[in-house]
Amino acid sequence: MTDELQILIPEERITERADQLAATISVDYAGKGELVLIGVLKGSFIFLADLARRLTIPHRIEFIAVTSYGDSESTDPGAVRLLMDVRHDIGGQHVLVVEDIVDTGHTLSYLLKLLEARGPASLESCTLLRKPDRSEVDIDVAYLGFDIPDVWVVGYGLDFAERHRTLPSICVIPQPE
Ligand code: PRP
Repeated sequence: MTDELQILIPEERITERADQLAATISVDYAGKGELVLIGVLKGSFIFLADLARRLTIPHRIEFIAVTSYGDSESTDPGAVRLLMDVRHDIGGQHVLVVEDIVDTGHTLSYLLKLLEARGPASLESCTLLRKPDRSEVDIDVAYLGFDIPDVWVVGYGLDFAERHRTLPSICVIPQPE
């Protein structure tokens, strides 16, 4: 690990939380048929893999990719664009969107609206991290790993300029000037 990075959530705590979340989700969806897990690329890929492998219920994996259009100077700073859709219809299915982090909330809000319009039997979200201090949209996250302060984090799927995604722990990286 680079010297400039400081561990915020060590690997063991992430593992413990993934165990707990998977156990809760397995109970909540027991007897409901197949759960569709939709991982939001790229950041969720490691969390999704760990969470899914701990589930004791039938499930399948889908991926979706989005990008934010806007910046803080644009007229619509929260605008999100779909880059890659899921491969199968989710109509009538129980769906759980899996994110690495909810920051402003615009990405998850966009995705929940998009997916809700397709008529799933149920639609919930699970995110490893959430920054309550950055929230701009009110979203109900059903399954949450950790609330964290407004710091720049990398590791366990999260990047800074595509670096550090494969660090085993969630680390704080100094904010760029
Ligand atoms: C991150 C993260 C969420 C989104 C959250 O993705 O994975 O999808 O930002 O931000 P918001 O709550 O402010 O909308 P990012 O755009 O960094 O792409 P990546 O997952 O491919 O790294």
